Amino acid sequence: MPDTDKKERIREIMERKEDHINICLEKPVQAKRVRTLFENVHLINDSLPEMDFDEIDTSVDFLGHKFSIPIMIGAMTGGAELAKRINENLAKAAQELGTGMVVGSQRAGLYDKSLAETYSIAREAGPDIFIGSNIGGAQLSRGFSFDEARDLIDMIKADAFYIHLNPAQEIIQPEGDVKYKNVIPRIREFAKELKIPIVAKEVGFGISGNVSKELESSGVKAIEVAGMGGTSYAAVEYYRAKDMGMETKEKMGELFWDWGIPTAEALYDVRKAVGLPVVSSGGIRTGLDIAKSIAMGATLTATAWPLLRAATISSDEVVKKLNEFEFGLKTAMFLTGCRNIEELRQSKYILTGELKERIGQK
Ligand SMILES: Cc1cc2nc3c(=O)[nH]c(=O)nc-3n(C[C@H](O)[C@H](O)[C@H](O)COP(=O)(O)O)c2cc1C
Repeated sequence: MPDTDKKERIREIMERKEDHINICLEKPVQAKRVRTLFENVHLINDSLPEMDFDEIDTSVDFLGHKFSIPIMIGAMTGGAELAKRINENLAKAAQELGTGMVVGSQRAGLYDKSLAETYSIAREAGPDIFIGSNIGGAQLSRGFSFDEARDLIDMIKADAFYIHLNPAQEIIQPEGDVKYKNVIPRIREFAKELKIPIVAKEVGFGISGNVSKELESSGVKAIEVAGMGGTSYAAVEYYRAKDMGMETKEKMGELFWDWGIPTAEALYDVRKAVGLPVVSSGGIRTGLDIAKSIAMGATLTATAWPLLRAATISSDEVVKKLNEFEFGLKTAMFLTGCRNIEELRQSKYILTGELKERIGQK
């Protein structure tokens, strides 16, 4: 790529990354008229838990790594100055608590080595934690190479390679890339070539049972559902399109604001469709959402937006937020009589209302 084009591309990516952070901090970007449907999942109270609260063990294994709490810090950022601070605070908090994180799309780090620091800071701040690399499905479709993937992995000494599938975001994004042909064959090639496991994720529109089957047969080792009901990337791109005077894209952002598969439904479908570890994410807002996810068969959960503001302040703020999630989870475990995550995975739950109705139609 000629130098001027490269500089222009870097500037564009940095601005977009900053926009994403600032919009998520300042504007309403959560689902408006729809929910995750975890409110239709009910755990059963146990008045005789036969244990002390202190005995509860929340540790879990994910892709060969031990997590002391089943909460991954969801993929968010990199490629901008503020992103560096955010990644540092997230990684420090993960290191302190014994959990992991996924960095945001590392495309920016490919174009400019100075931007690579905004990601590699995560490994410096979290030497022992699980860290996921991240690139978009659209990049794979456009000829992203094995060497480039290895560069991104080396940048953060990644433990897994996350591929985010985000056609709904790309179509609304003002400068979006709507080339989504050939993604599955390319995932298959990367799964054979890379030495670390590939994890496929959505960005808040939800992975379906059928898509999860295709991913499993292509060699993906875990699936993060990233369903609808939390952060809406149609909303985020709506504000950007509006700002740029792109009226049609703005209207699409509004129209598809609540598009997607509710997280509880995506989790149920993907668990039924594949035998892979499943990460429940998209609108995980409380420890009770985490407990319900695990009862429904998730191995792990991930949360992104609730940690963003805290991460702009300090790692202590992130720890505080994660502790709150952990306390909610432990409380649910105490009240269902589950000493550990395996017991919680075996515990009974009841489905009602809209979720039951939707699942019943499949
Ligand atoms: C500020 C911000 C930036 C994000 N950037 C990325 C990204 O670069 N790559 C990615 O895979 N997901 C990205 N996401 C999506 C999240 O990983 C997650 O799937 C989505 O926000 C739903 O989770 P939540 O409701 O807990 O926020 C981003 C989310 C936020 C809030």
